[in-house]
Amino acid sequence: MYGPKGQSSGAGRPPAAPKKVTVPDIRARKANGPPIAMVTAYDFTMARLLDEGGADMLLVGDSLGMVVQGHPTTLPVTVEEICYHGRAVARGARRAHVVGDMPFMSFQVSPMQALENAGRLMKDGAFESVKLEGGEEIAEHVRRIVAAGIPVCAHIGLTPQSVHAMGGFKVQGKGEENAARLVRDAQALDEAGAYAIVLEAIPPDLAEEITAAVSVPTIGIGAGAGCDGQVLVCYDMLGMYPDLRPRFAKRFAEVGEQIMAATRAYVDEVQARTFPGAEHSFKPNGPRRITPPAEPAAAVLEEIPPHWQTH
Ligand code: KIV
Repeated sequence: MYGPKGQSSGAGRPPAAPKKVTVPDIRARKANGPPIAMVTAYDFTMARLLDEGGADMLLVGDSLGMVVQGHPTTLPVTVEEICYHGRAVARGARRAHVVGDMPFMSFQVSPMQALENAGRLMKDGAFESVKLEGGEEIAEHVRRIVAAGIPVCAHIGLTPQSVHAMGGFKVQGKGEENAARLVRDAQALDEAGAYAIVLEAIPPDLAEEITAAVSVPTIGIGAGAGCDGQVLVCYDMLGMYPDLRPRFAKRFAEVGEQIMAATRAYVDEVQARTFPGAEHSFKPNGPRRITPPAEPAAAVLEEIPPHWQTH
């Protein structure tokens, strides 16, 4: 592991920074593989772990409105909030490409509004690309952003910013007409210059058809195994909602159970006064002295872990 300023926590030198995943790398995965592994992240500590684990792309999704802030939808999320979380995630992402979600009403108004806010995400949020929800109707917005040199990841199918129009978080693309519209949407976004397209909650055969119909990688969530990559919300992937099991979200760990068990053990030890023990305490001060101890402040700081020293 490495500290926030790149310092090695062991005796050796800091590890060399790994090569960043770039937009051309992501595009090339369509032809050459391996499938893209994308996951959401909202803070520095989680980003660092997901990056070390090998995630190719970290998405600061507007899902943060639901999983970080506790709202029932993503609609309240602001550009400022996405940028705040983006800066934290960017500090933890040494290799992964970092994508910022454009929140509700930050791009729908016009291609110019979309361009201005995409620019804010890149400048204030430290993002390397932006993601927009919507189909053919936002193709012009995508074109304007891409023309300014900002890479765009598109997002079709279940688009949570339209939850009220869709009547809930429901599978999309059912029936001939809806399926054909989604294929047209994907082609329009590909043609407008998007470098990847997220396909959310659509039947797997339709996702395969779309994947074959576009020149850029598709990244599925609830869209089957035929996409060029997959994305999950990190807390779903880690099993942090013990009572919520969406069909599409495989739990790769049971971190929620572990957090609760660890908390119960901590509470028990605090109440029993068995924590902190001598091994978790600093050296006793000895008999009370009038004059301050002679050690320089740096000697005390050495005992404090590197991630504390930054605060
Ligand atoms: O906001 C988000 O987290 C997303 C992913 C689920 C694709 O858009």
